[in-house]
Amino acid sequence: MKNFFAQNFAIVLLTVALYPFDTKAQTIPIESKDNAIVLQVGTDKHVDMIYFGGKLSAKGEYDYIGKPYLPENSTDYYNSAYTPSGSRNLLEPAIAVTHADGNKSLDLEYVNHTITKINDDVSLLSINLKDPVYDFEVTLNYQTYFNENVTEQWSVIKHHEKKDVVLNKYASANLYIQAGGYWLKNFHGYWAQEMRPEEEKLTHGIKTLDSKLGSRTDLFQPPVFMVSLNKPATEDEGEVLYGNVEWSGNYRIDLELDPANNLRLIAGINNYAADYTLKPGVEFTTPKFVYTLSDKGKGEASRNLQSWARKYKIVDGEGPRLTLLNNWESTYFDFDEPKLSNLLKNTKELGVDLFLLDDGWFGNKYPRNGDHAGLGDWEVNKAKLPDGIAFLTKTAKENGVKFGIWVEPEMVNPKSELYEKHPDWVVKQPQRPEYYMRNQLVLDLSNPKVQEYVFSIVDNLFSKNPDLAYIKWDCNSIMYNAYSAYEKNQSNFYTDYVFGLYHVLDRLRAKYPKVPMMLCSGGGGRVDYGALKYFTEYWPSDNTEPIERVFIQWEDSYFYPALASSNHVTNWGKQPIKFRTDVAMMGKLGFDVVVSQLKPDELAYCQQAIKTYKQYSEAIWHGDQYRLQSPWDNDVASVMYVDQSKGSAIMFNYLVNNRYAAGTHLPILLKGLDPDKSYAISEVNLYPGTRSTIANATYTGKFLMTVGINPDIREGRASVLIGVQEVK
Ligand code: GLA
Repeated sequence: MKNFFAQNFAIVLLTVALYPFDTKAQTIPIESKDNAIVLQVGTDKHVDMIYFGGKLSAKGEYDYIGKPYLPENSTDYYNSAYTPSGSRNLLEPAIAVTHADGNKSLDLEYVNHTITKINDDVSLLSINLKDPVYDFEVTLNYQTYFNENVTEQWSVIKHHEKKDVVLNKYASANLYIQAGGYWLKNFHGYWAQEMRPEEEKLTHGIKTLDSKLGSRTDLFQPPVFMVSLNKPATEDEGEVLYGNVEWSGNYRIDLELDPANNLRLIAGINNYAADYTLKPGVEFTTPKFVYTLSDKGKGEASRNLQSWARKYKIVDGEGPRLTLLNNWESTYFDFDEPKLSNLLKNTKELGVDLFLLDDGWFGNKYPRNGDHAGLGDWEVNKAKLPDGIAFLTKTAKENGVKFGIWVEPEMVNPKSELYEKHPDWVVKQPQRPEYYMRNQLVLDLSNPKVQEYVFSIVDNLFSKNPDLAYIKWDCNSIMYNAYSAYEKNQSNFYTDYVFGLYHVLDRLRAKYPKVPMMLCSGGGGRVDYGALKYFTEYWPSDNTEPIERVFIQWEDSYFYPALASSNHVTNWGKQPIKFRTDVAMMGKLGFDVVVSQLKPDELAYCQQAIKTYKQYSEAIWHGDQYRLQSPWDNDVASVMYVDQSKGSAIMFNYLVNNRYAAGTHLPILLKGLDPDKSYAISEVNLYPGTRSTIANATYTGKFLMTVGINPDIREGRASVLIGVQEVK
C-alpha cells in the first residue's frame, strides 16, 4: 500500500477509501500542537464532527469518542461536517442548492480524503463528498498550522449537471462543539466607534453575526468573534475559540445552540441576495474561515492568531514597518507644493521614515477640494501640484525620507469625469434615485473593465513614480441600491464584487509584492484576514482620541498583531502629546499633527519617542503581546510586548479613568518573561523636564511576574512606559 502511494503521489501522503465493510466508522483526527478536530465517516457515509478540543495522548483513542447525544428521532445531522439542506437535515444548513432540474435537496456522502503535508508546520486535509443522486461534489479543506494551533477551513463546490446549479447557501466551514455552555463575545460599532464588545451566554436558537453592506462591511459589525466554552474565559484561563471569516464583503456567522445543547457554528459568505449561479464544471472556492482554540484563555488564543498572521497572512508580517507623517488632519484638502515641501522637511525633522500625502491631490475638471467631487479622476491636480508627484518624490529624496500616497480606487463621486464617461461602471439602480454615503458611489468590481481600471490607478502610480514607497487604500462607502450593469445575474453581484477586488489585489501583489499598503475604510470599516493577505497594516479607526484608542486597540489586539495596527498621533482629544504618542506606539507608529506648531519640548519629546519606539520595535512588531490589565475593569490599562528572545520587553500603562484618586495602587504583574533571567527596569519616553518616580533597578523575571511593579500611574503621570532589558 505504502509503496504504491509513495510512487504514484509524491505530495499526497495518504488517500483512504471508505472502509469496504459497513461494520465500523472511520475516524479522521486533525491534530495541531495542542488540539484535535476529529471527523468521523459513519456507516451511512456521512461525515460528522465528533470532537473539537484538547489533543489526546493516545491517537487510537479518538476511535472511542462516541457520537454526541442526540434526542430520539432527531435528524441525526446535527454534527454534520458540512450540513446539506433539503433532505433529512432540518437544522441550519452550511450548503443549500437548487439543482439544474429545480430540485432543492442535497445529500453529501464521503468519497475519499487526502492529507497533504505542505511543510513541517502546515498540512491540509481534503475530504471529497458527493451527492449519491446528483452529479454534485464538495471538497472540505482543513489547513492546519500545527505550532500556532490555527486552522483555516474552506470548501470547493462543483457539479456536472446538465445546466447551471444555483448555490443558495455556500458556507466556508461548519463546526460542531460540545461544552457545558457557550459565551459569545462579538463586536459592534459605527464610524469612530469601532470594536465595542458584548459578551453573552448563548441560548437555544440561532445567533447570527452578519453584514449586508456590500463594501466597508464592518461598519456595524466586524467578522471577528470569540466563544468561551464551559465558562467565560479570562486572559489566562478557560477554553476559548476565536474566529474570522476571511472575506471583505457580506459575511454570515451562525451560532446555533441545537436541541442537544451543542454548538453548531456555520461561517462564510452571506447568502443574503446572493444565490450564486454555478456553471457545470466550474469550481467555486469559498473564502477561508480561520479559527484557533486555546485552553489557556484569551491571551494565548491571541498570541496564536497573531503569530499565525505574521508568519502566514499579513504581507511582510515578519518584516519591519515604516513610521510616518500624514497630512490629513493638518491640511485636509488644502495644500500646494510649498506647503507639502515644508511637510517633507518636517518629516525629516521629526525623524520618521515616510511622508504620506492624503486625500485631495487629484481631479482637474472636478478638483478634489472637498469630499463632494473628483473621486475617480486620478490625474494629479495641476493647480495644487503643477510639477506632479515626481516633484514630491524628488523633494522627499532630498530630505532623506520616503513618500507615500492615499487612494480610494473603488469609489466615484457623481461629480467626476469617470462618472460622466462610465455611468455603467457604477453600482446603482438605473430606475431609482441615487443615494450616497460621503457623496460617493461604489464602482462595479464584478466588471473586468472596472477591475482593469482600478488596477491601472495603482499600477500607473508605481510605474510613473518608482520611488513611491507606500499606499493608503481607502474605502469610505457602503453599497446602497446594489445593482450591476455588467452582471447577467444580479444574485452573483455581491460575491463577484469581492472576487473582483481580490483579483485586482492579486495582480498588484504579483507585481509589487512587498510595498507597504494600509487597509483603510473610513476607519476600521474593512478589517479581516481576507483583505490583510494583501496589506501590511490597517487603520483601526478615524477616532484617534487616545483613551478611546486604548479601548479600540485593546479589542483589536485579540485578533490582529500590533505591527498591523496603524496608530497615528493626532490632535483628537485633550490628552498631552506624551499620552497620545505613548498610545500610538502600541502598534505601527505614525503622526498626523502640525509639526511646525509643536512647542520645542513637544518636538523634542516626539523625536526621542521615535527613537525609543525603534529600540523596542522588535518586541512590539514581532514579539508576544500580553494584555496585563483591562481598561474596562480598572483605572489603569496595561499591555506589554516581549521579544522572541525574552531579552527585551516594554510595558505600556495608561490612566483611563479621571475619578478622584484613580491610579495604580498595587503592582501590576508582568508576563511572558524568562523567570530565571535578570531584567533592568527603567521608565522610558519621559517628557523633557520630568523625572521618573520609578527607581531604575534589576529584578529577576520571576519577581516581575510574581510580585510585579507599580508604574505609579496617577493624575499628572497618566501614561508611563517601562522598558525591560535583560542584564547578562
Ligand atoms: C477616510 C480616512 C481618513 C482620510 C479620509 C480622506 O475618512 O479614514 O483617514 O484618509 O478618508 O478623505
